[in-house]
Amino acid sequence: MYETLSEGVASDNGLLALLLDAPEQQRRPSLLFAAVNSLLASRRGSDLAAYYPIHGGHRAVDDQLVPAFSAFCGQHRDDLTRLLAQRSTQTNEIRRCVALRLGIDHVQRHWPGPVALVEVGASAGLNLLFDRYDYRLDGEASSAAASSAVVSCEVRGSSGTNILRTPPTITRRLGIDQHPIDLSDPDARAWLEAFIWPEQVEELATLRGAIDLAATTAAASVVTGDATTDTARMLSELPGSEPVVVFTASLLSYLTGQARNAFVAQLREAAHRRPVAWVFAEAPGLLATTALDVPALRGPLAQRNSRYLVGASLRRADQHHDQLLGLADPYLRWFSPARDSTDDFQWIPTD
Ligand SMILES: C[S@@+](CC[C@H](N)C(=O)[O-])C[C@H]1O[C@@H](n2cnc3c(N)ncnc32)[C@H](O)[C@@H]1O
Repeated sequence: MYETLSEGVASDNGLLALLLDAPEQQRRPSLLFAAVNSLLASRRGSDLAAYYPIHGGHRAVDDQLVPAFSAFCGQHRDDLTRLLAQRSTQTNEIRRCVALRLGIDHVQRHWPGPVALVEVGASAGLNLLFDRYDYRLDGEASSAAASSAVVSCEVRGSSGTNILRTPPTITRRLGIDQHPIDLSDPDARAWLEAFIWPEQVEELATLRGAIDLAATTAAASVVTGDATTDTARMLSELPGSEPVVVFTASLLSYLTGQARNAFVAQLREAAHRRPVAWVFAEAPGLLATTALDVPALRGPLAQRNSRYLVGASLRRADQHHDQLLGLADPYLRWFSPARDSTDDFQWIPTD
């Protein structure tokens, strides 16, 4: 549906102009679609809602979809303008916990023992609770936490789904975000849910399960902070000397080139005080600008930005040991483990 709607919006200046109400760096398709989606939640009888399975609709995509979208935007222009001007893109995709777990496994092989966990760009902090979820890789349960949230992911090109190990003790969990989501606020929760795509009924149930779980635990908090200026200080305030795993997933696309360098400089500074492992699930082209020591990023891999690279950069003082662990769909719907430490993933067909 979003593919059809994107084509419709792209060729309609009136619809495109809606995004001019958003701050420049927020003018993303996902923001417009989420704003419309959030209004639809309380307008389930509308012509447009009939197309949205997450709002109980059953109508297949047809040539009336874009006109219905356009009419809905016209009818609710004031509400849309307000949302687009005030809100920002906010997603929290717990499938990315597969990347986090693989990254932590890798850290364990080099630095066994307890670790602290900090997610930068944590949104509502749902990934910080990665060890409270059930995992189903290729439909096979690989843990039995009997959780209200199930993380499912297809494993491609590997000889088995047994790729997750038991995680170590997590001494503390902290999220840092420019705009943290307060899950006790029903409005904020609804805004997060609005980023689920129309057909993703199961994803919506998963997100709600994770939110319910997070609401009943005080294990993790997300504080307001900027990746580019606050990371090192916030890491220095963590007690203990165990390694800190800093997880980022879909953060770099929010940062300018200069800001990405500033974030990496923050990691470098923090690694002078204690071991820091940056575990990432990010677009290859953006990772290629962060001075990772990964030869594959100097080749065609750096152009494959419709995929995410999962990997880890283990840092102590000025030294870093960087490794790619796999290539994935950006939402971790599937993951392909790296075949060896120099894999450039040319064996995975391009789109
Ligand atoms: C696409 S969301 C990803 C959230 C989460 N990491 C996940 O994978 O579900 C990106 C998050 O980064 C946050 N963000 C963007 N720029 C930031 C910055 N400079 N410092 C801290 N957080 C930032 C946004 O507020 C948003 O919550």
